[in-house]
Amino acid sequence: MQNLKEKYLKFFESKGHRIIKSASVVPENDPTCLFNTAGMQPLVPYLLGEKHPLGKRLCDVQKCFRLTDFDGIGDKTHHTFFEMLGNWSLGDYFKKESISWSFEFLTEVLKLPKEKLAFTVFEGNEYVPADQESFELWKACGVSEDRIAYLPAEDNWWPSMEQFGPCGADTEIFYWSDASSPAPKVFDPKDSRWVEIWNNVFMQFNHLPSGEFVELKQKNVDTGMGVERTTAVLAGTDDNYKTEIWLPIIKDIERLSGKSYEGHEREMRIVADHMRAVVMIASDDAGIRPSNTDQGYILRRLIRRIVRFAKKLDIDVASAFEEPIIDTIVSQFKDYYEEVERNKGVVKEVFAEEKNKFNKSLENGLKEFEKVLAGFDRKEEFLRRTDPNAKVERKITGKTAFNLYETFGFPIEMTEELAKERGYEVDLTDFAERFKHHQELSKQGSDQKFKGGLADSSEQSARLHTATHLLGAALRKFVNEDIRQKGSNITPERLRFDFNCDHKLSGEELKAVEDYVNEIITKNLPVTYSEMTVDEAKKAGAIGVFGDRYGELVKVYEVKGYSKEICGGPHAKTTGELHHFKIVKEESSSSGIRRIKAILD
Ligand code: ALA
Repeated sequence: MQNLKEKYLKFFESKGHRIIKSASVVPENDPTCLFNTAGMQPLVPYLLGEKHPLGKRLCDVQKCFRLTDFDGIGDKTHHTFFEMLGNWSLGDYFKKESISWSFEFLTEVLKLPKEKLAFTVFEGNEYVPADQESFELWKACGVSEDRIAYLPAEDNWWPSMEQFGPCGADTEIFYWSDASSPAPKVFDPKDSRWVEIWNNVFMQFNHLPSGEFVELKQKNVDTGMGVERTTAVLAGTDDNYKTEIWLPIIKDIERLSGKSYEGHEREMRIVADHMRAVVMIASDDAGIRPSNTDQGYILRRLIRRIVRFAKKLDIDVASAFEEPIIDTIVSQFKDYYEEVERNKGVVKEVFAEEKNKFNKSLENGLKEFEKVLAGFDRKEEFLRRTDPNAKVERKITGKTAFNLYETFGFPIEMTEELAKERGYEVDLTDFAERFKHHQELSKQGSDQKFKGGLADSSEQSARLHTATHLLGAALRKFVNEDIRQKGSNITPERLRFDFNCDHKLSGEELKAVEDYVNEIITKNLPVTYSEMTVDEAKKAGAIGVFGDRYGELVKVYEVKGYSKEICGGPHAKTTGELHHFKIVKEESSSSGIRRIKAILD
């Protein structure tokens, strides 16, 4: 039997689409975003108007990875790695074809009963009027008006009114997932038994970092259908892990642990989800390896969590338990992504090495744990010199428990269990507070990265962004070291930089500034960044907008010896990419604020 992916690609091929290969799971030109989170992401340049070599109608299945919170994984429907089916019109067909083909695919190819489908359309805002056209088009397919709901931008604008990049109103398709009751006549989008299976975005705008919504040169269609969720819906289950996609992996885990899925759902889902993510990230030709930063850090945390949860399932983690699971996953994906098979050996090596490191770290943690207990004994012994009945409270502090967690990767449950065996307690309340604080920090860090995903990441704006930093540095050197950015705006053509200064810049000053920036460009220095807390950034001498929330994680971009600023990026990779810097205007912006416009030519 053909699976959903094959049916989808074949159908859109029959409608004149060319099937393109999935891009890497890591975005190629976007340092602000760790992973591709939607099928359209690698296609942004074409949605903005560049010609795609395969034409105006494309479809594919894209490797995607989304993560805002590890704790969200383990339920029935959330995954870190997932596959997204998509079809695109790059300035070719628009709503009519998109809607009628979606309907045809669902009802004639997948043979879903029309009675189980419902739709949302956009109710309108200042940029786009209510999408009556889509409403009428669904009706023309034979859908009852009761099954079409108008919703605001929060629901029917993709990706959201806040995010940058190509965007627009969308229409979403829902399926009635509850097999035990018939679909209600009137569609209530708030009823969670209606599950969203497909999203058709009608892209008409580019949301610029300046806040403007600029009409795109062409109108596009961007659609996305999650393979795992739709497969579950089609199979009539609300638990994604009970479908043909996940069952072979769950079966491996059942066999290795000697336990059954029932009663161990959360642990098994986490191991299954993370194993798939590890295979797909480590086999990708982007060459991601476990490390302490960015994608490598995610990979490291995934492997470590697998080991922890495998232990909970009593799997012998010193054995090569991961190998049969890796084999299963590779066999599932190899026909779609040839690199998965080609890099299978690498995946196994990477996994085993990281696993061994983690096991070693746990061993060291155990030694540390023994030291902590010995400390209690020593203290009691000391007190008993003066009071033979002295007793110390056998309670491990939250600080110690957190240190075991952070430094040695000791999960709190393990600390608690070990402590209990020896007649100790753990201050769980204090640990929980420390843990929560730590999580907030790392979530802020990853949110920032994921949020940045669809920003205008064209190379030109990245170059102008770097030029802005260099301009600031030059102004501080030749005009006044107290100069700070008071405003910045970048279009593909030029940068605009507002800064505090009490006088009109002289011709000499302008020339010195321009020459200095060009000197840094000629040196072709690397533009690097690292993540740190605001406090660390301040200590490191970075300038920029300091958020006042304690501990907030920020990115600091640096051109060594010249510029160090807190900034979200994206930037050029080297200063040489800027070619040549030229100031085209210097003028007053407001009282005490001057404005420079400059270009790269
Ligand atoms: N890009 C759209 C989505 O991810 C289709 O939902």
